[in-house]
Amino acid sequence: MPRTRRRSRPRCLLLRRRVLGPADPPIEALARGHDRSSFNSGAEELDRYLKEQASQDLRRHLAAIFVAHDAGRVVGYYSLSATAIELNDLPGDLARRLPHYPQVPATLLGRLAVDGSWQGRRLGERLLIDALFRSLASELASYAVVVDARDEAAARFYRRYGFMPLGQSQRRMFLPMATVARLPHA
Ligand SMILES: CC(C)(COP(=O)(O)OP(=O)(O)OC[C@H]1O[C@@H](n2cnc3c(N)ncnc32)[C@H](O)[C@@H]1OP(=O)(O)O)[C@@H](O)C(=O)NCCC(=O)NCCS
Repeated sequence: MPRTRRRSRPRCLLLRRRVLGPADPPIEALARGHDRSSFNSGAEELDRYLKEQASQDLRRHLAAIFVAHDAGRVVGYYSLSATAIELNDLPGDLARRLPHYPQVPATLLGRLAVDGSWQGRRLGERLLIDALFRSLASELASYAVVVDARDEAAARFYRRYGFMPLGQSQRRMFLPMATVARLPHA
């Protein structure tokens, strides 16, 4: 029998959840009072989504949007919605441990972006961890968190936290919820 390759220990397992400092922007659900007008992450489609589409998606129950804000000014955000993973797209060693359903439920972290003024200050990491724990806490069952990395740099960012390629694509990636559940809680 071929030996199952041992996965390297995801970096996110080693993450310590930081205590929120006074200067850390709070993260909360997008609301009317949040100012998005100057948000600029350098990824035009993600900036436009926040300014023009996010509220509509929220109203239509297509996505939940969470923002980090600095005195009301949005400096980072992410979106969550429901998706499904084709069993065939999972690595064999994981798929073999699941029942033979064609698909399993998952949570899509559809967008994640940080304003240029805050990039490199661990806000992306905080938003990602917030998204993972929020997904874990949902009462709806979800096998994994799925992301669509917009480019190779974004894929590298997600790989640091243990995300693995889903199917043939190097850009669609997933992190099993069982891994999130093993993260140290705050
Ligand atoms: C990718 C993004 C969310 C990262 O946010 P950030 O606040 O700048 O990142 P952080 O400061 O939290 O960085 C956390 C770690 O990830 C690394 N990192 C950040 N951006 C990275 C990138 N593009 N590629 C590889 N590693 C990256 C940091 O070096 C840091 O690692 P360290 O612990 O070794 O120091 C942000 O740069 C962004 O909004 N980019 C444009 C939109 C985008 O690409 N979104 C990705 C989803 S499609």
